[in-house]
Amino acid sequence: MLLDTYGRTATDLRVSLTDRCNLRCTYCMPEEGLAWLDKPELLTDDEIVRLVGVAVTRLGVTEVRFTGGEPLLRRGLTGIVARCAALTPRPRLSLTTNGIGLARLAAPLREAGLDRVNVSLDSTDPDVFERITRRRRLDDVLRGLEAAREAGLTPVKVNAVLMPGLNDTEAPGLLAWAVEHGYELRFIEQMPLDAQHGWDRERMITAEQILESLRTRFALTPEQAESRGSAPAERWLVDGGPHRVGVIASVTRPFCRACDRTRLTADGQVRSCLFAREESDLRGALRSGADDDELAGRWRAAMWGKKAGSGLDDPEFLQPQRPMSAIGG
Ligand code: GTP
Ligand code: 5AD
Ligand code: SF4
Repeated sequence: MLLDTYGRTATDLRVSLTDRCNLRCTYCMPEEGLAWLDKPELLTDDEIVRLVGVAVTRLGVTEVRFTGGEPLLRRGLTGIVARCAALTPRPRLSLTTNGIGLARLAAPLREAGLDRVNVSLDSTDPDVFERITRRRRLDDVLRGLEAAREAGLTPVKVNAVLMPGLNDTEAPGLLAWAVEHGYELRFIEQMPLDAQHGWDRERMITAEQILESLRTRFALTPEQAESRGSAPAERWLVDGGPHRVGVIASVTRPFCRACDRTRLTADGQVRSCLFAREESDLRGALRSGADDDELAGRWRAAMWGKKAGSGLDDPEFLQPQRPMSAIGG
């Protein structure tokens, strides 16, 4: 088990497969991209499967989510999914992606054993999409979403970050679109994880503002609290149901007390929290010959040191050294 001193158990592992991305979302990274990790720094496919195996067979992890950067850029992805699906006990497997390339990969990924996908999409207007992501790829994302639904990677969830002056008036329109297409939409409060350190709490669109904007067009009724479990999203039924909308209010209503996550970066570092300032080097241990027992012990020790919360409300708050795309979301 991966326990911490606050009584939480981490059963949900997020594995970043690459820090690279083919979009340049303004809330994430600059136009020119970042100093990407070199190939030898990345875990190999075998190393990833080995570490996921340790997490699943020895540490009680039951859910594995692959993230990035953009995980569909990882060449061995389908093979990694298939090998993780063959572990006993079999973990539930999901993927968070920007959707580019999913049109081609949805069916093979499903075949390999992937259970579901979350796709980032902040606007269904091609011009606004381009202003946010700095790439004109909306059509690829929309085709990817459809392919995911057709392949049965369901429920297909859509993640939207609202940015002031860019897409902040689009919340009701996005929800109407999601309801029409059968995707579960979640709005995410922007977090201070961008490489440019441009986050400004005063300008962030809050959960309350998002809900107020949605209520101009939809009746929202809160879902029973029990059904949330440790999920970061609070959910509402739209116009009485069955469609739902979620809000991930990491800044104004953090869910740290119920957090069940552990993270592995693309270069093999365990992070106990998105906002952690420490990492624990499993890659080094693995490459110097550590056996599974030792790897499991190091992972447990890393999680035991997990802090109570993100520290966002602390006046001394410092953004993690690594940006979102390197941590894995
Ligand atoms: P589901 O299992 O489908 O609910 O996945 P998810 O919402 O946990 O994952 P997803 O990758 O879609 O992430 C949605 C948003 O939640 C992203 O902005 C993540 O950065 C954020 N998120 C995920 N885990 C954490 C966490 O531990 N802490 C905080 N603050 N945000 C998180
Ligand atoms: N704040 C909140 N969400 C973010 N994402 C990327 N950067 C940020 C940020 N700074 C979202 C992406 C993706 C998910 C993994 O996190 O849009 O859907
Ligand atoms: Fe890429 Fe995701 Fe960052 Fe956008 S938020 S640039 S899709 S890693």
